[in-house]
Amino acid sequence: MNPSPILIIGKNGKTGSRVEQRLQALGYATRGVSRSTDPAFDWKRPETWREAMQGTQAAYVTYQPDLAVPHAQSDIIKFAEVARDAGLRHIVLLSGRGEEGAKMAEDIVINSGLTWNIVRASWFFQNFSEGFMLQGIESGELVLPVGDTLEPFVDVDDIAEVAVAALTRSDLHNRVFELSGPRAMTFPQCMAELSQALGREVKYTRISVDEFIAALTEEGLPEEMLWLMRELFTVVLDGRNSHPVYGVEEALGRPATDFKHYLEKTMESGVWSVERLDVSA
Ligand SMILES: NC(=O)c1ccc[n+]([C@@H]2O[C@H](COP(=O)([O-])OP(=O)(O)OC[C@H]3O[C@@H](n4cnc5c(N)ncnc54)[C@H](OP(=O)(O)O)[C@@H]3O)[C@@H](O)[C@H]2O)c1
Repeated sequence: MNPSPILIIGKNGKTGSRVEQRLQALGYATRGVSRSTDPAFDWKRPETWREAMQGTQAAYVTYQPDLAVPHAQSDIIKFAEVARDAGLRHIVLLSGRGEEGAKMAEDIVINSGLTWNIVRASWFFQNFSEGFMLQGIESGELVLPVGDTLEPFVDVDDIAEVAVAALTRSDLHNRVFELSGPRAMTFPQCMAELSQALGREVKYTRISVDEFIAALTEEGLPEEMLWLMRELFTVVLDGRNSHPVYGVEEALGRPATDFKHYLEKTMESGVWSVERLDVSA
């Protein structure tokens, strides 16, 4: 077993937290970093990168806010240089399906001279329970600018398991794992299944992209995030990623987790429970 810790950039994130937990359970030493750790790692402050990487040989890398943003490419070029210089040998990059910017970042990592894996994911199930859609579900109405586009959402527990395999198994190195769940679903369909599982209705309402962006502007979302939201809902969710892909099977030899199982375990976690909502109200 490699004695140097495995670096996790995005320790507190939806995937990073799970990757770290799994690695530790398998007995690996880890160094999880983000803006709030010591040493810190901040994508906006390149002067923090080297210290965070020093003494590590393999890294799980999640970029913020998204590889689709225009400056991601130059950040990843710089990141790969510092990584090589700091002695890193293997990078596992979390990427998104159907994003032109993400594809450019992937190519930088693939051509960096380090060994690599790309974990290229569909939309996460956990956006409904740990991300920006949670608020809508809590309020009983999810309002988004997307209609019947099919998306084969993926479980972040599957992503974390694939990332851990990519970090710890050299026979998997230098491969792209494109991940989705087993079923392409629409947002209204997700809300219908979620409502049935919860036993209370969470309505789905479609609005225009302009209305959506206007509402987010009103809430004070920064310019970069407004740009990103428009990009995600107009480009990434235009149906280009509707077909399921099989990276979970390829890496792990088992099928990807279905939305039904995600609903069961998330309900058990209590995140959508009426009691929790009453307490936080
Ligand atoms: N959500 C999806 O459906 C989806 C689909 C495909 C790909 N992706 C990709 O997934 C990546 C995000 O991964 P994730 O969902 O696991 O993470 P996440 O849940 O978005 O991570 C959130 C954490 O990132 C840290 N963070 C925020 N800004 C940072 C910065 N400037 N520098 C360093 N850390 C920062 C924060 O921790 P601190 O406050 O401690 O810094 C925060 O708690 C993105 O690149 C996104 O494009 C997402």
